[in-house]
Amino acid sequence: MPQKFQRLKKSKKLTKSSQKWLLRQINDPYVERAKAEGWRSRAAFKIIEIDQKFKLFKKGKIVVDLGAAPGGWSQYAVKKAGEGNVVAIDLLEIDTLAGVNFFVGDFMTPEAPQKIIELLKTISYNKNGKCDIVMSDMAANTTGDHTTDHLRIIALLEEALTLGTEILKEGGSFVGKVFQGGSSDEILKKLRTSFSSVKYFKPDSSRKDSSETYLVAMGFRRPENT
Ligand SMILES: C[S@@+](CC[C@H](N)C(=O)[O-])C[C@H]1O[C@@H](n2cnc3c(N)ncnc32)[C@H](O)[C@@H]1O
Repeated sequence: MPQKFQRLKKSKKLTKSSQKWLLRQINDPYVERAKAEGWRSRAAFKIIEIDQKFKLFKKGKIVVDLGAAPGGWSQYAVKKAGEGNVVAIDLLEIDTLAGVNFFVGDFMTPEAPQKIIELLKTISYNKNGKCDIVMSDMAANTTGDHTTDHLRIIALLEEALTLGTEILKEGGSFVGKVFQGGSSDEILKKLRTSFSSVKYFKPDSSRKDSSETYLVAMGFRRPENT
């Protein structure tokens, strides 16, 4: 049944952009569903849809979640892969999520990938520190300067992919958020040489007015000599 569109009462306290955000939130069916089903964010539906389409998750898989807050993707990952099998990072703190090894940090600092590998090695049957899925929903705050924003988006994706090619097991998968014009030819080239399949996918739960989409790469093959 189509939802009834709700309006806001006039408020002098809210800025125009806050009013727009609030209006969008209260009329967003995925926000409502996330609340009803106990997901920490509406973003959870994006990884659910990605998994329905590409069948990435299974019990026992080891997953790295980059840009995890408030935790919807990690929640789904731990549900499917099992407790203890998810390592996650964000700039922001999250409420404890059972079975997820989360730490606060900036993924763009050199220490972060090291810490992720250390945590992966603490998984009992995973002494080599490798994983099956690297997923990144990271998005940098926009500055308003198109060139700066574009470069920051590319840098996040590039770093996520660099970590992916270091820590993925043979046959592993990579999921990365991109924005229109936000993935460079170089990234696509790297993906196509390292994975047997590379696809763009925009879940229905990704807002239509957002240029966000996802790159889903499967069948990782480690280049020789690495
Ligand atoms: C769209 S949200 C992720 C939502 C999440 N997938 C979920 O399901 O709840 C993007 C996240 O990326 C994080 N982020 C952006 N840049 C980052 C960085 N350099 N290091 C770590 N996290 C980062 C932000 O703090 C933000 O929480």
